[in-house]
Amino acid sequence: MHTTPLAPKCGVEVTGIQLAEAQGDALDAIRQTIYQHGVAVFRDQDFSPEDHIAFAKRWGGIDINNYFPLEDEYPEIAVVRKKPDQETNIGGAWHTDHSYDQIPAMGSILVARTLPPQGGDTLFAHMGAAYDALSDELKAEIAGLEAFHTADHVYSPDGAYAKTDMGSELRGQELKTGATHPVVIRHPHTGRKLLYVNYAFTINFVGKTREESLPLLQQLFAAALTDDNQCRVEWAPGSVAIWDNRTTWHNALNDYHGHAREMHRITLSGEALAA
Ligand code: SIN
Repeated sequence: MHTTPLAPKCGVEVTGIQLAEAQGDALDAIRQTIYQHGVAVFRDQDFSPEDHIAFAKRWGGIDINNYFPLEDEYPEIAVVRKKPDQETNIGGAWHTDHSYDQIPAMGSILVARTLPPQGGDTLFAHMGAAYDALSDELKAEIAGLEAFHTADHVYSPDGAYAKTDMGSELRGQELKTGATHPVVIRHPHTGRKLLYVNYAFTINFVGKTREESLPLLQQLFAAALTDDNQCRVEWAPGSVAIWDNRTTWHNALNDYHGHAREMHRITLSGEALAA
């Protein structure tokens, strides 16, 4: 397995390995790479839906997404699809998946199935690098804080997606979500400190209202997105990206209007988070 950085502080490109065959020490090496760098993109993969599901089960388990359409034949696979006549895409704002669950998903395995002729890249930002770059004063201010996360304003019948041309394809709009997590978590496997608030799903600090929380939240959101902690995954046929939701935020760029893009996503089970 050969890795090349996508950017100095975020992401790697991996060659020389077929995910469909990876297990044992090779799978452990893949896990460590993703925990450390946040996201890895694997090129030239021969990765059927059956391989996708089997690999996710070897990794440790599947969290079925409550909202996205599911693949007809393979309900473990969520379909992240934008049709040529649609304007809105799924995941087109900075977020980390499932932070609204008390035990959030560890990460996702995203497989390129249909790509636009150009565009449709996915941006990632590394939350360990973001935390490290905070001033000592800001680190002291957020030490010990917890924050509330929910997805209700995004997926509910009057939420953000319902107002778009993506709304009718979503499931689970009646669900209620809510979770509380430390603002700074320790990665469950590397021990690295990570900033764990995100633009899409973090609403307020525990003990403060949304209005009281917004100034500090916005300061943290801005700090999370400096250019030097970001990387870009440029998709190609046969590309598979695996990311760690604790370590990264991501944002699916919506710059390919008039063209189809379809990705298959499996969300990997995670563990409770702690400071
Ligand atoms: C997502 O999981 O948020 C979608 C990512 C992508 O389509 O690139």
